[in-house]
Amino acid sequence: MNPSAPFDFRGRHLFVAGGSSGINFGVAEGFARAGANVSLMSRSLDRITAAASRLVALGADAIGLAGDVRDPAAVQKALDAAVERFGPIDVLLNGAAGNFLAKINDMSPNAFKSVVDIDLLGSFNVARLAYGHLRKPGASIIHISTTQAFTPTPYQAHVCAAKAAVDMLSRVMAAEWGADGIRVNSIMPGPIADTEGLNRLVPTPQGRDAMAQRVPLKRLGRTSDIAHAAMFLASEWGDFITGAVIPVDGGLGLTGPRDFTAAGEASKQARVAAGSGA
Ligand code: HXC
Ligand code: NAP
Repeated sequence: MNPSAPFDFRGRHLFVAGGSSGINFGVAEGFARAGANVSLMSRSLDRITAAASRLVALGADAIGLAGDVRDPAAVQKALDAAVERFGPIDVLLNGAAGNFLAKINDMSPNAFKSVVDIDLLGSFNVARLAYGHLRKPGASIIHISTTQAFTPTPYQAHVCAAKAAVDMLSRVMAAEWGADGIRVNSIMPGPIADTEGLNRLVPTPQGRDAMAQRVPLKRLGRTSDIAHAAMFLASEWGDFITGAVIPVDGGLGLTGPRDFTAAGEASKQARVAAGSGA
């Protein structure tokens, strides 16, 4: 079955910030299968070019562009190149992010700032600079948040704070840009199998199996679960939805904070051994 079959994005332009791998690439793949032209941007030209090639191999029209979301000039350049190739942006996926496990007392100000800069300031940069290139009316912006944005989680202060702020930024954008015909929403993925984010937090297969059992729906998520939610939000079916923050997590967010103590302490010991940690 073509998982994108209910959706038709032929001739529409998706721009993905942070699209070289994982969830964001999975969303790009869903849109590509539904006919969208896709522009991908991330820090590494090699990774993003390879990702775009995978979409082209599916029959999509796609380009990979280098750009760090922390660098407004680089983001502007990538946006300009994307619009030159595919025209105004119909859907903007703002998903670049960074993460590691560390307690507040083991984080330098720069460690905390690095995640805030990528997740929060980066999302601002991309959306703010994309505004002039969005199709108005009709464009849709989707932020990729996480359930940690509402669940206070030890070893994740930087991510909890940055993503909670991303969700609020998303809602204010919805309020300010609604009159332009731009809808802005946020998706909170739960633990998604075979992704960098989950593997960093839960490094062992046994840990990931235990995590799956904690999910009320008794499985880890798939990148296609997030793609389906994003396509729904960006489609005509989501036409009256803006300012929403939607968990797509199999219900995990209902179960309280996750315990990252073992992996967090192991990560700390590894950094100490490497001479880079407290
Ligand atoms: C404490 C740490 C640390 C750790 C890095 N730092 N790792 N501090 N514990 N484990 C500190 C460094 O010492 C440095 O501070 C500061 O953070 C910046 O580190 P750099 O390596 O110089 O930063 P940079 O090259 O910009 O890399 C950013 C990064 C990196 C976030 C640290 O991991 C990255 O590029 N990540 C992108 C990929 C990624 O994380 N994917 C997962 C996304 S998932 P000092 O003071 O020494 O200078 C996600 C999770 C959601 O977001 C939930 C999932 C379930
Ligand atoms: P991932 O594969 O590491 O995705 C992160 C992406 O962001 C990569 O394409 C990376 O590409 C890019 N990126 C990182 N820093 C960047 C920067 N400064 N500028 C531009 N691009 C940058 O991890 P993932 O787990 O799939 O996470 C994707 C999104 O889902 C993130 O927003 C994350 O917070 C969220 N999330 C993940 C999970 C999960 O279970 N995995 C759960 C909840 C939320 P380059 O390295 O090429 O730059």
